[in-house]
Amino acid sequence: MEQHLQEAAAGDEAPAGVQERRRRVAVVGAGVIGAGWAAFFACKGLDVHVVDAHPGARARLDDALQRARRTLQALGGLAAEVREPVLGDDLGQAVSGADHIQEVLPEQLELKQRVYAQIEASAPDRCVIASSSSGIMPSALQAGMRHPERLVIAHPCNPPYLMPLVEICGGRETAGWAVEEAEAFYRGLGKRTVRLNREITGHLVNRLQAALWREAVYLAVNGYASVADVDRAVTEGLGARWAVCGPHEIFDLSGGELGMAGFLDKLGDAVEAWWASLGQPRLDAATRQALIDGMAQAAAGRGYPQRAQARDEGVMAQLLARPN
Ligand SMILES: NC(=O)c1ccc[n+]([C@@H]2O[C@H](COP(=O)([O-])OP(=O)(O)OC[C@H]3O[C@@H](n4cnc5c(N)ncnc54)[C@H](O)[C@@H]3O)[C@@H](O)[C@H]2O)c1
Repeated sequence: MEQHLQEAAAGDEAPAGVQERRRRVAVVGAGVIGAGWAAFFACKGLDVHVVDAHPGARARLDDALQRARRTLQALGGLAAEVREPVLGDDLGQAVSGADHIQEVLPEQLELKQRVYAQIEASAPDRCVIASSSSGIMPSALQAGMRHPERLVIAHPCNPPYLMPLVEICGGRETAGWAVEEAEAFYRGLGKRTVRLNREITGHLVNRLQAALWREAVYLAVNGYASVADVDRAVTEGLGARWAVCGPHEIFDLSGGELGMAGFLDKLGDAVEAWWASLGQPRLDAATRQALIDGMAQAAAGRGYPQRAQARDEGVMAQLLARPN
């Protein structure tokens, strides 16, 4: 296991020493994302202790472990020895002796803060607590902690065993060492990281996602195109490129040899006019129903397992094909 982790660390330029210390991970919460994280860490050869009293937690973990194994086998990076995550409801036991704590509780500030107090009663003082929160700012999360300096946001994309990115962000009281250790930890396991210079609600990924989805909702519920066609415009039009270039570079390339300056000369004013006409939908009852009906039509009877598998296989094929 150690050898594997050292190789991964070397390949991703993370300091090897950090990886050698990160051998036991506590995962607090085993829902959609917690089960995915636990499975990923286990498949990377770490000892994983999961806390969640939900009766469905074991089944979710088993399912995620199966998917993660398949994924990492195909992508490379599956540890030689994969130990099943240990599941229990004793938080103190899970976090004492942990080298890294991944918090994956529901997106509720007070609940997360309450559980941090319980975690801090047993966890080693210098152990990083990484919150998976999709959008809560780290300064809010760390308010009231005994050691707020070790709280960082480490936000994955779903599913965490497949998607390369982890967004890292510290709050007002986060120490530099905690951000650096968190970044080295995920990079050592083969993840790509982006670091926010300053906290903002929704971090990067969800703000970008929300901006696009706001317009997607506006277009679909106002009848400009069906839910299926709006989604197709993204997968066939934007998404195929986005796996390779971000939105800034795409426009820079649209400017040809003149790059961004050429693009702004040609189309900057037009983009401003499009911005001015973007929709501002609300997720009221009628809009929600239109989205539910539109999505049911787009799914055409294909259920969650089938579509989740198709998503995973499609992303996997793309990751395998792309240059590093
Ligand atoms: N769903 C996504 O796509 C996604 C993606 C990235 C990040 N996140 C973030 O990850 C976090 C979890 O999201 P999710 O979608 O997995 O939620 P979820 O509701 O599927 O899972 C939350 C789990 O936490 C458990 N839990 C509740 N209280 C607990 C406690 N005191 N101790 C231990 N376990 C407890 C629940 O039983 C449940 O299994 C949220 O902060 C969310 O914003 C979600």
